[in-house]
Amino acid sequence: MNAVIDTKPMQLDEQALERARTHLDDGAVTPSYGPWREEVIKLLNDALATELVCILRYKRHYFTAHGIASPSVADEFLEHANEESAHADKLAERIVQLGGEPDFNPDSLTKRSHADYNDATDLKSMVRSNLVAERVAVEAYRQMIQMIGDKDPTTRRILEEVLAQEEEHADELLDMLKD
Ligand SMILES: [Fe+2]
Ligand SMILES: [Fe+2]
Repeated sequence: MNAVIDTKPMQLDEQALERARTHLDDGAVTPSYGPWREEVIKLLNDALATELVCILRYKRHYFTAHGIASPSVADEFLEHANEESAHADKLAERIVQLGGEPDFNPDSLTKRSHADYNDATDLKSMVRSNLVAERVAVEAYRQMIQMIGDKDPTTRRILEEVLAQEEEHADELLDMLKD
């Protein structure tokens, strides 16, 4: 079967460029953005909730980790907490750019988060629960990236960067479990 060749001329949509001169209140979002802005903002807010829950879980584990391997493991928890915090900032910033409201409401945080909070007291349970949470985050980000596709390249790039770091987190936690 022959591949279908796209013969459309490589020309910009001049009308869309003209429309971009209007609706200045929308800032970075031009009229041709597409009808999915609210859905993208919702996905980003659920991801933000997930990151915030992950920060809390890692902080709890950082401060309560004890035992023979605890100093190095606790340091890793703190590093992850700080990286989740940077993810949360990136997501919140993008929500605002899209004209949305970043939802930091603690009352609904655990309901909106994909990953769970955990207050285990033994090191192995901590590592295991963090690995589960990271794998859930990896799956959620991968699905979001697929759904967004070409609809919003900037949001997709942000999600791809976050996903790569969640995969690193999962990998590091698995190494700890094996030790
Ligand atoms: Fe994260
Ligand atoms: Fe992570």
